[in-house]
Amino acid sequence: MIDLILRNARVTGQDALTDLGVDQGVIVAADAGTTAAETIDLGGRLVTPPLVEPHIHLDAVLTVGQPRPNVSGSLFEGIAVWAERVADLTYEDVQSRVRQILRWQLACGVQHVRSHVDVCDPQLRALRALVDLRDEVRGLIDLQLVAFPQQGILGFDGGQELMREAVELGADVVGGIPHYELTREDGVESVQFAMALADEFGLQVDIHCDETDDDHSRFVEVMAAETIRRGMSGRVTASHTTAMHSYNSAYAYRLINNIARAGLHMVTNPLDNSVLQGRFDTGPIRRGHTRVKQLQEAGVNVCIGHDSVMDPWYPLGYGDPLQAAFVLVHLGQMSGDAELIRLIEMITTNPAAALGVPDYGLRAGGQADLVVFDAPSEADALRLVAPRTLVLRGGKVVARATPAQHTVIWDGTEEQVTFLRR
Ligand code: FE2
Repeated sequence: MIDLILRNARVTGQDALTDLGVDQGVIVAADAGTTAAETIDLGGRLVTPPLVEPHIHLDAVLTVGQPRPNVSGSLFEGIAVWAERVADLTYEDVQSRVRQILRWQLACGVQHVRSHVDVCDPQLRALRALVDLRDEVRGLIDLQLVAFPQQGILGFDGGQELMREAVELGADVVGGIPHYELTREDGVESVQFAMALADEFGLQVDIHCDETDDDHSRFVEVMAAETIRRGMSGRVTASHTTAMHSYNSAYAYRLINNIARAGLHMVTNPLDNSVLQGRFDTGPIRRGHTRVKQLQEAGVNVCIGHDSVMDPWYPLGYGDPLQAAFVLVHLGQMSGDAELIRLIEMITTNPAAALGVPDYGLRAGGQADLVVFDAPSEADALRLVAPRTLVLRGGKVVARATPAQHTVIWDGTEEQVTFLRR
């Protein structure tokens, strides 16, 4: 007798339905003859390992409209509004907003989160709030914190000292924003500074890199070179990299080869960048995404990030990685049969690799962390942005959902509609 059996599970990547056993928090083998204290029939629903959020700015969530709305919706107005809001930031304010979003994320099946935290604050209020919250939620959601210099490392007074202080305070990852520094040379130096700091403390690196439409913004090449020189392959992530969209193809070819050689992880953020990029274009408007398909063809690990939830840069969202994946289907033209499955990997296994999540994946003997979608396949999960009906962490239910029932009255008769092909 084991604790739980999930019958008729459609485990991602497999065609046949299987039974998943859970005992003492661990996944165990189960068959038709296995008995359990509790049995749940999943009816062929899709099961994946936990969703992993590799890129969000938790310190800014739920601040949309504060202290004033971003009228144009542009990146620059967003930065100006945030600079005003940040003056009112308190430890309690950050914690209460983030506690709410972590619950939304868990309801979506997210159990691992990497958050950038603005450290251009002499008091490091947001980082202190999140370092304490990281301990509070450990075991339910694993939180990694990036020391993120929103105003730059060299271009912000005391930037280098604040980065070091943030690391000593407990940041897990060193960030950067080289395209925002005052000069190209400062940008290069900021990347070198961040990588040296991470190397000194044995940390990972995740840099906002080339988040612009300027095709002369070329700092990913510096990240790749530093990663190779320092032997930091696998510990370095380049986020956004939207300028790559606008590079000439000869340069992009050389760059992508070096990214692959360096073993960089890449994070694209389809929600924010679809509305923030291309703002200087009058038509056609560039999509402003990194070269996802070419990177993947070169064997590079590419992940999807959510970036913002209701903040000055992006007023929508509720923290669901599946929404971001749905948008990338369109803007990345990833509607091919195999690509739809790859999109699910880009919110599960790929970011798990980028974050270095230990013991990740569905296998006998592994911790029973999993997510059930109200959909029979990866394509249907994306199409419907399907609710997560069940989320387990260590074999325990940590989230569940009762999907909405839709009924039509057709010629006087009530009929249920499921949006699934019969
Ligand atoms: Fe970001």
